[in-house]
Amino acid sequence: TYVVTENCIRCKYMDCVEVCPVDCFYVGENFLVIHPDECIDCGVCEPECPAEAILPDSDDRAAEWAEVNREYSQQWPNITRKGEAPPDAEEWNGKPNKRPLLSP
Ligand code: SF4
Ligand code: F3S
Repeated sequence: TYVVTENCIRCKYMDCVEVCPVDCFYVGENFLVIHPDECIDCGVCEPECPAEAILPDSDDRAAEWAEVNREYSQQWPNITRKGEAPPDAEEWNGKPNKRPLLSP
């Protein structure tokens, strides 16, 4: 499965949701997640993310985010259409230590 990781927080570009063939993205206030049981591992979303926040779960950097994706994908609503990214998304792209800023 693929996993949305830290750099999505407050960037939330949403290009990823438009390309997913099985519509397995779920949306929170400032972050998105992938439902691990619905993702078919096609990899199409990974290069679409301008923040490079989507990784395969085989990547070490995805490890701590797998559980976050599983948990919130069961709580948040599904999203299939790109909305407007936050106006300051570019400023947050690449900022370190965004994890505490994730809005549940
Ligand atoms: Fe959707 Fe494919 Fe990305 Fe999984 S890897 S979230 S199925 S686009
Ligand atoms: Fe987030 Fe990248 Fe999608 S910033 S909303 S994972 S396009």
